[in-house]
Amino acid sequence: MSTQTVFPGVVNARRVTTQTLQEMKAEGIPIAMLTAYDFTMARILDTAGVDVLLVGDSASNVMAGHETTVPMTLDHMIYHAQCVVRGVQRALIVVDLPFGSYQGNAKEALASAIRVMKETGAHAVKLEGGANVVATVERIIGAGIPVMGHLGLTPQSIYKFGTYKVRAREEEEADQLRKDARLLEEAGCFGLVLEKIPAELAAEVSASIQIPTIGIGAGVGCDGQVLVTHDALGLTTDFNPRFVRHYAELAGTITDAVQAYVDDVRHRAFPSEDESY
Ligand code: KIV
Repeated sequence: MSTQTVFPGVVNARRVTTQTLQEMKAEGIPIAMLTAYDFTMARILDTAGVDVLLVGDSASNVMAGHETTVPMTLDHMIYHAQCVVRGVQRALIVVDLPFGSYQGNAKEALASAIRVMKETGAHAVKLEGGANVVATVERIIGAGIPVMGHLGLTPQSIYKFGTYKVRAREEEEADQLRKDARLLEEAGCFGLVLEKIPAELAAEVSASIQIPTIGIGAGVGCDGQVLVTHDALGLTTDFNPRFVRHYAELAGTITDAVQAYVDDVRHRAFPSEDESY
């Protein structure tokens, strides 16, 4: 990989591709992925050097205020992806196929993935599931669209699981996850999100497949990490699982700033003469 610096703080400004991620795994360079749903944040995250931006269906929670990701539609995802694409020069942009847009059959799934690619300019799609989605993954990849898999806690199935607790603690489920990871690799996935599974299992799976794994609540042994940006920046105040690290406390910062603004307006301290025409 080249190492020129074009954006502040970013080593290697070459556009990130699925091939780049493969090279990063081979070279042991951990992959940094975050979610993005809008132009302004996407531009900041891209400039800061995030390798992969996931237009996650977690937009349902952090943008729309829903309790689950289930209500998200393909049109919603396409809108968010269009906004993100306009702000990004370097990162690989992956878009979640939302609940209901790919589970029906492989043909419908391909139609959904084609809409995402044609209407947004994003680079890849992600979908949840293992053996049950292999035919779908093959169909989408067969059409030339890169697919990222997602195993472990798969939030679109929350009503089947009934809880967001750690997955694959029991040997039977862990074994199924190992098999699913291999199946998704064989089906041609370029990467795999592992969500909320024991760190030891995630490390084992990461070592056993050639494609990069991206962990969330899956320990340091994955080939990369992903967090929901609103969680990492401390914008969400009511969601504090142990796998989230707050890199900032923006909810507090924004509250202070807005209170100062309200105060200035009340006291006619804003705008000043310099801020007026
Ligand atoms: O939608 C999302 O944000 C995700 C991540 C949690 C991996 O799928």
